[in-house]
Amino acid sequence: MCAYGLNSKGFACTLKYPEGMEGQAPAVAREAVLKVSSALPKDMLRIRGYDFNDGVDLKAVLQSYATTGFQASSFAQAVQEINKMIEKRLEPVKEEEGSEPCDPQSPRLGCTIFLGYTSNLISSGVRETIRYLAQHKMVDVIVTTAGGIEEDIIKCLAPTFLGEFSLPGKELRERGINRIGNLLVPNENYCKFEDWLMPVLDQMVQEQKTEGTHWTPSKMIHRLGKEINNPESVYYWAYKNDIPVFSPALTDGSLGDMIYFHSYKNPGLVLDIVEDIRRLNSKAVFAKRTGMIILGGGLVKHHISNANLMRNGADYAVFVNTGQEFDGSDSGARPDEAVSWGKIRMDAKPVKVYADAALVFPLLVAETFAHNAARLVAEKKD
Ligand SMILES: NC(=O)c1ccc[n+]([C@@H]2O[C@H](COP(=O)([O-])OP(=O)(O)OC[C@H]3O[C@@H](n4cnc5c(N)ncnc54)[C@H](O)[C@@H]3O)[C@@H](O)[C@H]2O)c1
Repeated sequence: MCAYGLNSKGFACTLKYPEGMEGQAPAVAREAVLKVSSALPKDMLRIRGYDFNDGVDLKAVLQSYATTGFQASSFAQAVQEINKMIEKRLEPVKEEEGSEPCDPQSPRLGCTIFLGYTSNLISSGVRETIRYLAQHKMVDVIVTTAGGIEEDIIKCLAPTFLGEFSLPGKELRERGINRIGNLLVPNENYCKFEDWLMPVLDQMVQEQKTEGTHWTPSKMIHRLGKEINNPESVYYWAYKNDIPVFSPALTDGSLGDMIYFHSYKNPGLVLDIVEDIRRLNSKAVFAKRTGMIILGGGLVKHHISNANLMRNGADYAVFVNTGQEFDGSDSGARPDEAVSWGKIRMDAKPVKVYADAALVFPLLVAETFAHNAARLVAEKKD
């Protein structure tokens, strides 16, 4: 008897079963398909998603992500990792531990939390989530790029609008409208920013010349937060709560354009990035423990990670970005690459979520900082 009957051309197949094996599939195929499993550890999570027969319960949906797999499970691991940072941050610290000799004003924390984000996230509605964290002093050090500073101030002067990714650049340019993804910013907003910023720059030059003020990007951002005096602003709250904000490439944006124009009218302003690198690195070096939450890649991802190299690595890390590692970019590098450099500790359990931070970060904050708000805010008042 033939094992396969007719072949694909309709000819009778000549393969014969060994004597006595007729009616059974070939052993090689059975062994390949039905290979015996070794037992998995008993505590492994079983995959199971949310059942909408239980009603629409968004908190329960997010909790079901832990056993959903793919980036949903990475999201759940990121929630756990940030909650570990928060628990350690709330732990009392003894006098001699975690102090910062160069910054006696700093509270002694069980875990110093570094937050980094790319400029576009301030252009987006993620700004309001970040503002909430600064308002309640839930993070300790912020790093962003120039657009991440100016777009926050500009939003206090004029709004950003929802457009379309597909709007043609030529038509937008003719109408004086700038596009950031599917967001639209009228050029008029930057004109208002110029009118607002020029007197502040004049004042800074004046103080540098008469009082010897040594300006750094972080001191300038502190000043901008004070001057904007608007509770919708991230940097107003960073100023109020004394959260240092670092931005070593502060001139790479509209701020740089304005500083350039201003330098013709009233030259002499100096911004010192050396003082800031010492201040940022000290935040990591003298911390008891550190946690990094980094949204997006580029400068913000590396600047925070490099500061943490100075302490032989962060204790906790969560990256949310869309970068891939195949091109060797730092933006796309998985946390394990940072372990090899000493930027994350060897015994840490860092998490990378591959996603648009606009989608993920408000949900992450809902399950972590906002969930623990009562305890975190009480700790701030103590
Ligand atoms: N609104 C703006 O984006 C804006 C405005 C003015 C100036 N700039 C300047 O452009 C330069 C480059 O900007 P940048 O360094 O802030 O970041 P970027 O826009 O170059 O992004 C860096 C990487 O972060 C990741 N990323 C970005 N957005 C993400 C998201 N929503 N979710 C997940 N991952 C994301 C991607 O991997 C990306 O390649 C900076 O110097 C900045 O000051 C930007």
